[in-house]
Amino acid sequence: MTLRSNQVVASRPQAGPLVERLMLLLKQFAGFRASPQIQRKLERIFQNSADLNDFILAVERDATKTELIALVEDLTNHETYFFRERAHLDAMEQIVIPALIQKKKQQGGTKKITLWSAACATGEEAYTLAMLTLNTLLKHGIGIEATPGNITLPPDWKLEVLGTDISRQAVRIAKDALYSSRSEGLSSFRQFPQEYLRFFDEAGPSPARDRKIYRIKPSITRYTRFDLFNLMSLVPPQRDIDVVFCRNVLIYMDIESQKSIIRSLHQSLQSGGSLMLSLVDSMVAPDLFRENRQNRCVIYEKP
Ligand SMILES: C[S@@+](CC[C@H](N)C(=O)[O-])C[C@H]1O[C@@H](n2cnc3c(N)ncnc32)[C@H](O)[C@@H]1O
Repeated sequence: MTLRSNQVVASRPQAGPLVERLMLLLKQFAGFRASPQIQRKLERIFQNSADLNDFILAVERDATKTELIALVEDLTNHETYFFRERAHLDAMEQIVIPALIQKKKQQGGTKKITLWSAACATGEEAYTLAMLTLNTLLKHGIGIEATPGNITLPPDWKLEVLGTDISRQAVRIAKDALYSSRSEGLSSFRQFPQEYLRFFDEAGPSPARDRKIYRIKPSITRYTRFDLFNLMSLVPPQRDIDVVFCRNVLIYMDIESQKSIIRSLHQSLQSGGSLMLSLVDSMVAPDLFRENRQNRCVIYEKP
């Protein structure tokens, strides 16, 4: 078919520039860097460029960013498990928590340890920190374990573990504190040290024979708190944190966003506090921290 010169042709938006425009919105909102994986996911979600165009216009008009939040939910990877990357946890047990115990004792008064799992996904990292810290305090003679898994701290010792994530679904799962173990495959318990099973109760019959459902005991959940938080908000939720874990999230972000987030994590820490990044992350704001290099990980200490 040939077009006559006066025929009006509805111009079809081009997919390439639209994907770039959406990637820019995602970067500004959640820090995401453009990657082939994200691009493929976007292509799967938006069947054609007209849908994509409508979506971008809706997002640009909507101050509450509801649609964008829903898209971020679809794009994020919530892969996590208890006792992930043992190197940091060993460093916590052997170096960071013992040093914190000394520091808090010297300060006197109420001794409060505050930890933050920033980008906690479904909560396994935050609960790991709570179990590990209580167990370590106990080994240092702080607290009693009246029955297996029920550790009570002395009245002058406090522990608070904050878990935050941008994903509403992930935070809801974290709050529920119910986890399924499978005999095979990638369950939350895939690298689980058996001595910590005492911090869980079996939660009724499981729908499948090859798995069990476990609930974290109240003796642990009472020290944990979960909240929605976008790391790109850049104003930290608290400024009195002793240790921040921010692992396996910065790799999805562009360098500028990583730098802004690291600055905000730095603000959240007390002086002398520590930051743990994952083994795959590099420190993009090295001037802010002192590096305490261990065998298999680095503890970034706020001077
Ligand atoms: C792979 S999980 C990491 C979980 C845990 N930290 C670990 O190492 O096992 C990454 C998490 O980062 C969250 N996330 C991605 N962008 C975020 C942002 N801008 N603010 C807060 N959380 C974010 C995702 O929702 C996801 O749950």
